[in-house]
Amino acid sequence: MKYYYNIINNVIKFFKFCILIYFKMYFIPVMRNLLPAKNGEEYTMQFLLEVVDILTNYVRKTFDRSTKVLDFHHPHQLLEGMEGFNLELCDQPESLEQILVDCRDTLKYGVRTGHPRFFNQLSSGLDIIGLAGEWLTSTANTNMFTYEIAPVFVLMEQLTLKKMREIIGWPNGEGDGIFSPGGAISNMYSVMVARYKHYPEVKIKGMAAAPRLVLFTSEHSHYSIKKASAVLGFGTENLILLKTDERGRVIPADLEAKVIDAKQKGFMPVFVNATAGSTVYGAFDPINEIADICEKYNIWLHVDGAWGGGLLMSRKHRHKLNGVERANSVTWNPHKMMGVPLQCSAILVREKGLLQGCNSMCAGYLFQPDKQYDVTYDTGDKAIQCGRHVDIFKFWLMWKSKGTIGFEKHIDRCLELSEYLYHKIKNREGYEMVFQGEPQHTNVCFWYIPPSLRLLPDGEEKRQRLHKVSRYSQSLLLSLPKLLVCD
Ligand SMILES: Cc1ncc(COP(=O)(O)O)c(C=O)c1O
Repeated sequence: MKYYYNIINNVIKFFKFCILIYFKMYFIPVMRNLLPAKNGEEYTMQFLLEVVDILTNYVRKTFDRSTKVLDFHHPHQLLEGMEGFNLELCDQPESLEQILVDCRDTLKYGVRTGHPRFFNQLSSGLDIIGLAGEWLTSTANTNMFTYEIAPVFVLMEQLTLKKMREIIGWPNGEGDGIFSPGGAISNMYSVMVARYKHYPEVKIKGMAAAPRLVLFTSEHSHYSIKKASAVLGFGTENLILLKTDERGRVIPADLEAKVIDAKQKGFMPVFVNATAGSTVYGAFDPINEIADICEKYNIWLHVDGAWGGGLLMSRKHRHKLNGVERANSVTWNPHKMMGVPLQCSAILVREKGLLQGCNSMCAGYLFQPDKQYDVTYDTGDKAIQCGRHVDIFKFWLMWKSKGTIGFEKHIDRCLELSEYLYHKIKNREGYEMVFQGEPQHTNVCFWYIPPSLRLLPDGEEKRQRLHKVSRYSQSLLLSLPKLLVCD
C-alpha cells in the first residue's frame, strides 16, 4: 500500500514541478528568466528551441504550394490588432508565452517571400544555407567596422570582394570595395567616389569648390541614381537622362551628344551610369560603347549591375556585360539574382584607396593607426556608416556550399525559365509583349489585353485603360492568397 502511495505522491510532485516550470517559463516576465539571469540557461534553451520550432515550421510550409503566400490585411486592420496579436508597445513586460505568440503571428501576417508563387520585385526564394548564415550572423551579433571586433567576417569580406573583382575582370582582382545596405547605397557610393576622384577638395570645402557638375544615366535606370544626385548636392536637374532604344538600352550617340552639349554650356561631366539589367525591362546598356565615350571625355563610368551583375557568374550570359572590366565602379547585389537573403550588395571600385580617401574621418576612438595588427583590415572608415551589419557571411557560406559552378547553374536555370515563359506568352491570345524580341534578363514584360480593348487603336486612351487593367489585376491577385505578383 505504502509503495503505491509513494508512487502517487511522486507523480503528483512531478506534475507540480512541471506546472511550476511551465508557469515560470511563460508567466514570469521575460527578463527575469532568460540568460544572463542566474539559472536562466534551462529557460533560455527551452525558449530558443520553441522559437526554432516556429521558424522551421514556417520554412517547411513556405515550400508547400498549398500554403498562402500572404494573408492580406489592410494597415488599419493590423493596427487595430488581430486576435491575440497587438502591435502596440506596452509598459509592462509580456510573458514568454505571449512573446512566442508574437513571433508566430508576425510570420502569420507577413509575406512568404520564399514561396514558389511569390513573384514580387527582384528578390525571391529562400536559400536554406543563406538562412542558416543569417541566423549565425545574428547570433554572433558583431559589427564590421574593425578587424578586432569581426576578424573572421572582415577577412571573408575581403576575399569575397577580391573574387568578385576577378570575375568582373580587373587584373588579379585588384581594386577595392565594400558591402553596403543595398544597391541604392552602392550606387550612391559610386557617385561619391567619382566626385572625389575628380574634385577631392569637395570633401572639405563642399560643392562650392567644384564647377557645375553633371551626371548621366538612362531614362530606364534605377531611381537611386536620381536620389544620389539629390542627396549628394548635385541636384536632380544636373542629372541628364539619356534616350534608350525600344528595348530600354542607352543610345550611346545620345550620350556623346549630351556630353558635348553640357561641356559647351560650361558644365563638367563627371559620372556616367550604365545599367546592367534595368529594373523593369531587364535591359543591358552597351557598356563597351559607353566606355569609349567615357574614356574620350575622361568621365567616371559606373555599371549598375545591382540586378544583372549575377549574370557575370554564367559563362553563357556574361557577354551581356561585355566591357564591365572597363568600368571604374560596379554595383552588384547578390541579394537579387543570386538569391542571397537580404541584405547583400557590394560596391566595387577599380582604383584602390579612393573609398578610403573619400570617406575616411579617422575617428580616434575606433581607428587607431598603432594597433598591434595590420590596420588596413580596419575597413570601416571606407564606409559612410559607422556600425555596419555583417552581410558577408550568408553569401560566403552559400558560395562555399554551391561553389561558383552552383551559382552559374542557378543563373542559367533562371534565364532558361524566363525564356520558356516568354515563348509561352508571346503567341497567346490577349497578350502583348511590351517590346519585341527575347528579353535579355529574366524580366518578361507583357500586357494582358482584355477583349474590350483588343480592337482599340494604340494610343494614350489604350495606355490609360491598360494601366487600369493592370492595377485591377494586381488588387485581384492580392486577394488570392496563393499568389503574390507585382505589376
Ligand atoms: C538596377 C537597380 N539598381 C539599383 C537598385 C536598388 O537596389 P536595392 O533595392 O538593393 O537598394 C535596384 C532595385 O531594384 C535596381 O533594379
